[in-house]
Amino acid sequence: MKLHVVSHPLVEDALAALRDRRTSSTEFRRLSRRVSLLVAAEATRDLPTVERPVETPLETVPCRVVATRVVAVPVLRAGLGMLDAFLDLVPSAQVGYFGLERNEQTAVARRYYEKVPKDLGDAVVYLLDPMLATGGSAAMAIEGLRGLGAKCVRLLCVVAAPEGVRYLEQHAPDAEVYAAALDRELNPRKFILPGLGDFGDRLFGTE
Ligand code: PRP
Ligand code: URA
Repeated sequence: MKLHVVSHPLVEDALAALRDRRTSSTEFRRLSRRVSLLVAAEATRDLPTVERPVETPLETVPCRVVATRVVAVPVLRAGLGMLDAFLDLVPSAQVGYFGLERNEQTAVARRYYEKVPKDLGDAVVYLLDPMLATGGSAAMAIEGLRGLGAKCVRLLCVVAAPEGVRYLEQHAPDAEVYAAALDRELNPRKFILPGLGDFGDRLFGTE
């Protein structure tokens, strides 16, 4: 499994504010969008393009446009914080949803919702979930996408833990992961350290 940690000063800057416990939900949403744009830009760098002639007001110029089907699948809830940024970059993407929730005691994910386009074999599928902790949620979502025929799956996240990366290496070796940061470890409650806390709660102002 390939792990890409996006190295960019603007990623560092956004992460510093996302991690800060004093950052409000309003600001957290803006930062989530900003960091997601940077991660998504990196993860779409190699999308195939075809040439298309375009008429400018002055002459015709050969341009290149994206030539593959793209599907974005945010994982509810926290993945919603990455969706607008992704659609800013790839407005033609289809969108599907997985609803996954970790049990607070066991940290084991449970799927409660699924609405994803079918026959994903010809698509580049971007799974959007900002936190890769144990890897259980991502592995469950990737397995679901594989069941719908997906061959090319890329997980975009904000913070990844080494435990989650190792878990995906075993359970989803063909997926690629793009992360803004690779953090140190999980705590006993399976939260990422140093991390940024509960992404969904901070994004939506819940506890
Ligand atoms: C968070 C996060 C991931 C999951 C990661 O979701 O958005 O989906 O935890 O943890 P894992 O790698 O150990 O599976 P959570 O279950 O807190 O749901 P929420 O987004 O609705 O808050
Ligand atoms: N989910 C989160 O939102 N944060 C963590 O640290 C781990 C899982």
